Amino acid sequence: MTSSARPLYFDCDTGIDDSLALAYLLASPEIALAGIGTVSGNTSAAQAARNTLGLLALAERTDIPVAVGRHDFLAHAYDGGAPHVHGDDGVGHVALPAPVQEVDAASAAELLIRLSHEHAGALEVVAVGPLTNLATALSLDPTLPERVASVTLMGGAALVPGNISPVAEANIGNDPEAAAAVFAASWPVTVVPLDVTMENVFEDAHRERLLASDSALARTVGAMLDFYMDFYVSAYGRRCSALHDPLAAAIAVGTVTATRAPAVPALVDHSDGPGRGQTIFDLRSQRAGALDHEGANVRVVLATDRPLPDHLADRVAG
Ligand code: BDR
Ligand code: CA
Repeated sequence: MTSSARPLYFDCDTGIDDSLALAYLLASPEIALAGIGTVSGNTSAAQAARNTLGLLALAERTDIPVAVGRHDFLAHAYDGGAPHVHGDDGVGHVALPAPVQEVDAASAAELLIRLSHEHAGALEVVAVGPLTNLATALSLDPTLPERVASVTLMGGAALVPGNISPVAEANIGNDPEAAAAVFAASWPVTVVPLDVTMENVFEDAHRERLLASDSALARTVGAMLDFYMDFYVSAYGRRCSALHDPLAAAIAVGTVTATRAPAVPALVDHSDGPGRGQTIFDLRSQRAGALDHEGANVRVVLATDRPLPDHLADRVAG
């Protein structure tokens, strides 16, 4: 971490790819992790906090506050997560050290608000789980967007199918009401959807590089990826994994640049019909190029300048 490092709040449902994203952020000198909030999604918010504390213990970074967020979503109860993707414990049944630090006394939403005051105008938010904590923070303090520099989130699907329904991606589909509130707030949002995350693929050879690292954190995340890669055989026909949360982290850090990311009207379907959880981006004027709509505060990433996998393996393995 350097004194010019930009302060960043990370909201996650830790989670195997969340763990890889966290390892990447910890290895990124461009930013300083000011705090982490957990939310239910891949696993419960409480289990995600235990996982996060274990990862921070491995990294010997017990200076970063970790706050537990909402267990249930805004309009419905947490339903047990995605054990078939991330394991019952969220981390592919890989043992993590016991936490060294206590969780913060604040909730994740309260931690985000507190950090927005400590770093007013400079705080960057990266959210890679359901957006329940961000929406809760917005309802606790509607002035929050005035103090947040940017929000980068992994979620949604613009021009490709969803992954938990024909049209819904997991982070948005788990809490569509929260996503709608986050999209509607007056802060600059960059959405990193399945359109680009599914195109960035970590191969078994990348995992081997993590396993051979001198870093205990890298080796542990490499071990977790064994479970995750088994799940992705159903999507890619071979053992590998999509880089959902790490791509959002890299775009937020600035090591991967979005080359096509129009600012467009963006909605989330939070009806009870078959479209629930769908992200709807108005891309009708895009045929002529990446045209921004005046007043639109949501950008959707449709192309990036370089593939992430090699750089990710290099940075996390050290
Ligand atoms: C997203 O859902 C979660 O399972 C992953 O961690 C990622 O954030 C992908 O749809
Ligand atoms: Ca996640």
